[in-house]
Amino acid sequence: MNIPLSNGKLLPIEMHKIKIVQKTSLPPASQRLRAIEQAGYNTFLLRTRDVFLDMLTDSGTNAMSDAQLSAMMVADDAYAGSESYYRLADAVSDVLGFEYTLPVHQGRAAEHLLAKTFVKPGSIVLMNYHFTTSKAHVELAGGAVLEIFGDEAMNTHSADPFKGNLDIQKFRDAIAKYGADKIAYVRMEATTNLIGGQPFSLANLREVKAVAAAHGIPLVYDASLISENAWFIRQREPGYADRSIRDIMREMMSLVDIVYLSGRKSTAVRGGLIATNNKSYYDRILVWLPVYEGFATYGGMSTKEVEAMAVGMREMTDETVAGASADLIQYFVDRMVEAGIPAVTPAGGLAGHVDAKRFLPHIPQSQYPAGALAAAIYIASGVRSMERGTISTDRDANGNDVLADLELARLALPRRTYTLSHVEYTVDRLKWLYQRRDLVQGLTFVDEPPVLRFFFGRLTPINNWGAQLAAAFEADFGPRY
Ligand code: F0G
Repeated sequence: MNIPLSNGKLLPIEMHKIKIVQKTSLPPASQRLRAIEQAGYNTFLLRTRDVFLDMLTDSGTNAMSDAQLSAMMVADDAYAGSESYYRLADAVSDVLGFEYTLPVHQGRAAEHLLAKTFVKPGSIVLMNYHFTTSKAHVELAGGAVLEIFGDEAMNTHSADPFKGNLDIQKFRDAIAKYGADKIAYVRMEATTNLIGGQPFSLANLREVKAVAAAHGIPLVYDASLISENAWFIRQREPGYADRSIRDIMREMMSLVDIVYLSGRKSTAVRGGLIATNNKSYYDRILVWLPVYEGFATYGGMSTKEVEAMAVGMREMTDETVAGASADLIQYFVDRMVEAGIPAVTPAGGLAGHVDAKRFLPHIPQSQYPAGALAAAIYIASGVRSMERGTISTDRDANGNDVLADLELARLALPRRTYTLSHVEYTVDRLKWLYQRRDLVQGLTFVDEPPVLRFFFGRLTPINNWGAQLAAAFEADFGPRY
């Protein structure tokens, strides 16, 4: 939450106190260099003992509340009919307004079941933007993804408050071109992850619903970051400033046919779910639930996580929770912009993002500037970020690289986990790196998996630039940091 200071500035203040901590340590630059070399310049392959601040993701890394932890102690361990499930289903009904809840082990499992149920060979799924796993499951089921975002979505230096909006004219054009029968569903991702956590507006969702309903196309909502999207609607959309987060969520959900989420983000647990009011959709998805996930009342989650999710579902409607990460990210982005670092604007949900094309303009996309930037940030700071660019986009059927729309290094701020001094430290090291950016060069693959290659791929730095960067850092800060 932001609190106004006497100098007129806003301070993102923590509306919680810290009761349990995990010790962290700052490995010096020489150790960081060794670690990133062993990790094949892929931050996914670092061990956390070598990481100071883990900004890889906000997935499954958020601080849980005391109420969530205590709920875990009363979990009802039953294979079938667990009371924990009914507490989760009640929370989904109260908060989101859906009668049928299918638990799954995490968000991509929901995507798998939806694709299995609705996507046939030749189907098209329309999206405001894809997420890596959402696209993979549609394609594995024989379908194709068509993204229909607006012109401003790919502008990383923008003032557009809703870059996650779906382009309604392109939606109509796609229906005219392919026919509504071929469109399995239209998927709206709350705060579109891969383009910088950018929200869509309620006005846009209403229009999407009107067009989808007119053509009998189901509207699927990826709610992994629903509380952040609701938070931005309240801050940015005219007419919503005085509405509660809960109210805004309910209004969004009233337009949706199927909602699914990774519970690892907004609800701060390790799990996921699908929910709907459509009994026929529920019945069709339910067929696959025990085959791939688990029985209908646990769906591959531990009952402890089911309990914690029920609590997290209610807590994410609290504005001090919904805005906990968003306001700190806004501060982070403002500080980066002040320091001249090319951060993605406006600030979004889940992370501060740095535009690698602008940070490292001398590296061609074929040499993976965002991957190089993520590795360089780690060498310069011990902060682990994630590449969201061409490495995160798999090759096409002919084996050619598909150059990503954006090349971003994503520095996630898990909810209630890091503090203002962590953000200040990160901005300072990014500033140092920006001054030394000429030292950073590109990467080439040495080991490249065929699907979702960003997870396990190994790369090598062109001209051994990592060692030069670590040496420059040590010359400026000494061997201890
Ligand atoms: N949808 C969105 C919008 C996501 O951000 C994610 C995961 C998923 C679906 C898949 O959920 O991980 O629980 O299986 N995002 C993580 C991230 C991995 O780091 O942004 P999952």
